[in-house]
Amino acid sequence: MNAAARPALDLKVPDYVKNPRLVAWVADMVALCKPAAIHWCDGSQAEYDRLCQQLVDSGTFRKLNPVKRPNSYLAWSDPSDVARVEDRTYICSQKKEDAGPTNNWMDPAQMRATLQPLFDGCMAGRTLYVVPFSMGPLGSHIAHIGVELSDSPYVAVNMRIMTRMGKAVYDVLGTEGTFVPCVHTVGAPLQAGQKDVAWPCNPTKYIVHYPETREIWSYGSGYGGNALLGKKCFALRIASNMGRDQGWLAEHMLILGVTSPEGKKYHIAAAFPSACGKTNFSMLVPPKGFEGWKVTTIGDDIAWIKPHADGKLYAINPEAGYFGVAPGTNHHTNPNCMASLDKNVIFTNVALTDDGDVWWEGMEKDTGVMPDHLIDWQGKDWTPAKAKETGAKAAHPNARFTVAATNNPALDQQWDDANGVAIDAFIFGGRRSTTVPLVTEARNWTEGVYMAATMGSETTAAAAGQQGVVRRDPFAMLPFMGYNMSDYFQHWLELGQKLQSSGATLPKIYTTNWFLKGDDGKFIWPGYGENMRVLKWIIDRIEGKAKGQDNVFGVSPAYAELNWTGLSFSAELFAKVTHIDKAAWQAELKLHDELFTQLAYHLPAELTQAKSALAQRLDA
Ligand code: GTP
Ligand code: SPV
Ligand code: MN
Repeated sequence: MNAAARPALDLKVPDYVKNPRLVAWVADMVALCKPAAIHWCDGSQAEYDRLCQQLVDSGTFRKLNPVKRPNSYLAWSDPSDVARVEDRTYICSQKKEDAGPTNNWMDPAQMRATLQPLFDGCMAGRTLYVVPFSMGPLGSHIAHIGVELSDSPYVAVNMRIMTRMGKAVYDVLGTEGTFVPCVHTVGAPLQAGQKDVAWPCNPTKYIVHYPETREIWSYGSGYGGNALLGKKCFALRIASNMGRDQGWLAEHMLILGVTSPEGKKYHIAAAFPSACGKTNFSMLVPPKGFEGWKVTTIGDDIAWIKPHADGKLYAINPEAGYFGVAPGTNHHTNPNCMASLDKNVIFTNVALTDDGDVWWEGMEKDTGVMPDHLIDWQGKDWTPAKAKETGAKAAHPNARFTVAATNNPALDQQWDDANGVAIDAFIFGGRRSTTVPLVTEARNWTEGVYMAATMGSETTAAAAGQQGVVRRDPFAMLPFMGYNMSDYFQHWLELGQKLQSSGATLPKIYTTNWFLKGDDGKFIWPGYGENMRVLKWIIDRIEGKAKGQDNVFGVSPAYAELNWTGLSFSAELFAKVTHIDKAAWQAELKLHDELFTQLAYHLPAELTQAKSALAQRLDA
């Protein structure tokens, strides 16, 4: 029977779905994608368990040892589908300038014409899952609703962890509510009788955003940000457009709470590029010398930040779970994260131990030994000898865990607060083996925006392509900006001006770099929990307790201003990580020039002025 002759699929709309626009859209998408069945997700535990069992039966999931890792699963993706595909990601605004020079752009009509034949019949032989979700606490004035239609049950179960997913979303949506429509297909239709593979996907991939109509269309990948559309596609690329129009910010930032021994609490939002330490920093365990200090997690990846009537900026975490990098995570680097992973986890692309548990590079630091034998993320035998010989990794460098925020022992009491938390400081931090010092405070909002806008970082395995190359990554948002980057700088500047003119005290802005390397190629700064020492200095600055010292870019800490109890880190080493090398910075400013040339259209004059002032101070 050909597609046209096939009887229309009964939509089986549940009686609690009362939004005619949603139903009409689902009907349209069913007509286009032609799935064999439809499943309206209710978000229940029973449904989650059923879908996980179905994924086990189909070979996508392996159930892990229930004693070692209760109610947890392992998925191995297709080796070609392991990370976000930035070169296949598009912002299809009406005008090219509105996507800007940092985004791939195609005319929306042309993109629709390109996608039409790809989506036509793309779900044949598969079930279409209707996944309703709220980004942010249900009903929060900062939250927004999305509905993802996906032919991947892996996506459905991951979305249940990563978002507030299920029936209750329909109550918030009501009959008239609006939602961001997100269509996702792995792009692997099944012919009658064709056997499925464990990780269906398509070599052709399109991750497409229509900012004006607030739509997301994703084709060909089942992995992470390509497929879990609430995350980067909605909460950053589409939401950045909403934020610009409505006067708020959608940022690639963790949010943490830090409470002093006296019980005073601060909230910090920090933007680091992908795989540069957001999850780690958001779950930080204060080291020796910080008795009585407590760090709590509000979010580990994305922040939605709105100005409030009291003149402060309030942030929520739009997500409900963590899709975090596994390699490098262990009880030394991130004990709270390890504790979060002891049950109810979906692991993707980590290795399997002989006793049915998971393993990844970095875990040997906990046990002191390498495992004798593993099955690596590609299903092959792995031994330490073979790894030594070939360099083969047991876990893919972008292997990830999906886990509910409520698993985190350091979860902040206010993580689910509909009003969010008031931000006291912003941090921007790149991964730089040279040039950029450990921490600098910007002298004012404009210089802070300048520092964020010109941030560089070495690329990581979180995206497909070359690793370790320095590129400009403004605000850690390069892959996630939903509109023109220069207009986004302007939006930040205007927000600051507006708050300031209303008499508000703006959050201070810092840049950090945990990743400076010595001549031996090793990290100089111990990082992880020790980053608390820098965080404490930031709080001391907020409190006016640390004087700091002026440098060409802003304010640096003096050695004596950091608490060194419990760590031996000499003044000489400290000088190394806080030193500003003039020649290196003159070269760095040339890269800022290149960026500004690329972003010349609509580039705020304040930033060019900030650059000239820096260049002058550097030459002085
Ligand atoms: P995305 O989820 O991709 O947005 O990344 P993220 O910013 O949350 O990254 P994550 O916290 O998962 O960090 C990933 C990598 O950074 C791991 O390899 C960590 O070992 C490393 N890392 C995190 N914090 C530090 C640090 O303070 N110092 C050093 N040297 N490495 C760190
Ligand atoms: C990132 O790459 O910044 C991530 C992972 O947080 S993904 O959701 O795949 O984009
Ligand atoms: Mn991220």
